[in-house]
Amino acid sequence: MAMRAQCRAFAVVSVVLAVFTASSSSTSFTIINNCANTIWPGAITGDGKAGLDSTGFELAPGQSRTVSAPSGWSGRFWGRTFCYAADSGKFTCVTGDCGTGRVDCTGGGGVPPATWAEFTLNGNGGMDFYDVSLVDGFNLPMLVTPQGATTTAGGNCVPTGCEADLNAGACPADLRVSAPGGGVVACKSACEAFRSDQYCCKGMYEDPNTCFPSNYSQVFKSACPKAYSYAYDDKMSTFTCPGTATTYNITFCPGATSGREDGSKQQTGAAAARPPLRLVLLFVAILALARDFF
Ligand SMILES: *[C@@H]1O[C@H](CO)[C@@H](O)[C@H](O)[C@H]1NC(C)=O
Ligand SMILES: *[C@@H]1O[C@H](CO)[C@@H](O)[C@H](O)[C@H]1NC(C)=O
Repeated sequence: MAMRAQCRAFAVVSVVLAVFTASSSSTSFTIINNCANTIWPGAITGDGKAGLDSTGFELAPGQSRTVSAPSGWSGRFWGRTFCYAADSGKFTCVTGDCGTGRVDCTGGGGVPPATWAEFTLNGNGGMDFYDVSLVDGFNLPMLVTPQGATTTAGGNCVPTGCEADLNAGACPADLRVSAPGGGVVACKSACEAFRSDQYCCKGMYEDPNTCFPSNYSQVFKSACPKAYSYAYDDKMSTFTCPGTATTYNITFCPGATSGREDGSKQQTGAAAARPPLRLVLLFVAILALARDFF
C-alpha cells in the first residue's frame, strides 16, 4: 500500500513537473497593421537578453507578421511612420526612427515621441508583464491583446493600449509634431517638450510621492485611460498574463475597422468557457495525491 502510494506520488509529481516545464519555451507576437498607411514596426530588446528574430520590418495596410521571443525576453515594440530611403540609400522615418539607417533596428531604440508596447516575459511568479506607454509621447494608436490561457491571471490578463488617435485633435497645441507638409504626425510628452524636472519626474521629483500627473499627462490619460501617461502613473496601467500560455497581438490603429471590438470579446469568451489543460491536469494530480494521503 505504502509502495503503491509512493509510486503514484512519483507519477503525479512527474506529471506536475512536465506540465509546468514543457511550455516555458518562446512567446510569439503578431503585429498587425490596421492603419490606412504603411508602417514600419521596430523592436528593441532590454539589456543583456537574447533577442527577437526580427527587429524591424515593413507592414502594408492590412498586413501582419509574427515574431518570436525567447523565454524571459523583455523589450518594447513601436511603429515608425512616413519612412523613406534617401538617395544615399539611408532609411529614415519621420516618427519612431531607430537611427540605424536601415529597416532593421538591431539595437537602435525609437526616437520619441512614439507609443511603446513594453513587455517583460516570464518575470516574477512566471508571469508576463506588459503595458502601453505614452511616457515618451505618442505617434500611433496601439492595442495589445493577449491570447491563450488568459483566464488564470486573476482578471488582469486583458487588452491594453491607446486606441485614440491623439494626432487627430486631442494633442495639446504646444506638444504637436507636424510633418513638413503640415499634418500632425506625433504628440510629444510634456517632459520632452519642456524638459523640466517636474514633468520628467527627475531631481526632487524623482519619486512617486513628489511627481504627480500634470495638466498635460491628464490629457493623455483621459484619451487613453489604460496607458501610462507619465513616469509614475498608477500601477493600474501594468497588466499580467500567465507567462507560459500567452501570445500577444499588437495592433496598430485598432479603431480603424468597425466590428473589431466584438471579435475580440467573442474570443475572450470562448477561452473563458474552457479551463486551461494545465489547470485540469494539476487538479487531477492534487485529487490523486489527496486520495493517497487521506
Ligand atoms: C498647463 O498649465 C500651464 C501652466 O499653468 C499652461 O501654460 C498650459 O497652457 C496648460 N496646458 C494645458 C494643455 O492645459
Ligand atoms: C490576433 O491576430 C490574428 C492574426 O491576425 C487573428 O486571427 C486573431 O483573431 C487576432 N486575435 C485577437 C484577439 O485580436
